[in-house]
Amino acid sequence: MGSAAPGGDRWEVRGYAAEDEAALRRVCLLTGDAGGDATGLYADDDLLADIFLLPYLAFEPELASVLTRDGRPVGYLVATADSVGFAERYRRDWLPGFALRHPRPARIVSFEDRILDLGHSPEHSIGDDHVLFPAHLHIDLLPEAQGRGWGRLLVRRLLAALRSAGVPGVQLGVGERNVGARAFYRRLGFAPLPSAPQNALRLGLPTDAVV
Ligand SMILES: CC(C)(COP(=O)(O)OP(=O)(O)OC[C@H]1O[C@@H](n2cnc3c(N)ncnc32)[C@H](O)[C@@H]1OP(=O)(O)O)[C@@H](O)C(=O)NCCC(=O)NCCS
Repeated sequence: MGSAAPGGDRWEVRGYAAEDEAALRRVCLLTGDAGGDATGLYADDDLLADIFLLPYLAFEPELASVLTRDGRPVGYLVATADSVGFAERYRRDWLPGFALRHPRPARIVSFEDRILDLGHSPEHSIGDDHVLFPAHLHIDLLPEAQGRGWGRLLVRRLLAALRSAGVPGVQLGVGERNVGARAFYRRLGFAPLPSAPQNALRLGLPTDAVV
């Protein structure tokens, strides 16, 4: 799936390949502070990717989509079809290595401690209503790739894959400060989960939705 403009500005959405990893790690960092650049925010610039990107690439690479511009990765969507299974696998296969790179804080004082704590408690990503919305996703595009309809297309691509696997819905968490992402998700039809209608930071979408 691609599009080319006069002058050779070529965009493409394709599946993930192992050689994309470093570029996607960078996209994760440059969009990791409520949509803005998170460079230097935490002691280790790889912390966010180590929680919100790399395990998805390792466990379910077939659900990952990569957006490229002139061959260069400028965005991605990663997901799991089964958040419960993902959390189990993360705890078993990912957490031991993660804990060596990012020790669990003794007390949660700073925002960084909270992120670290998320990395040590993968069950956070299961969310409410996981029978109706068993999948979850993360999506990040560099500023140069935003506002061109690619985010919508990446979500549409995921919905098609989940639908054909018989998965009824997908959910996600969005940061309180990330006003732009919240507007994007609502525009696509994501809504608060049935059992937590007041929680505007945890949203779900049935996979048969038209986005
Ligand atoms: C949030 C993000 C994925 C949206 O992707 P995108 O490609 O920029 O969005 P699209 O161009 O596909 O927009 C789809 C619709 O959402 C709306 N929308 C997108 N971003 C919006 C914003 N910041 N404010 C209001 N509406 C917005 C668009 O107007 C569009 O509606 P329309 O078709 O009626 O015009 C992308 O901007 C991004 O990666 N941001 C930085 C990282 C981030 O915050 N990730 C999410 C973490 S939870």
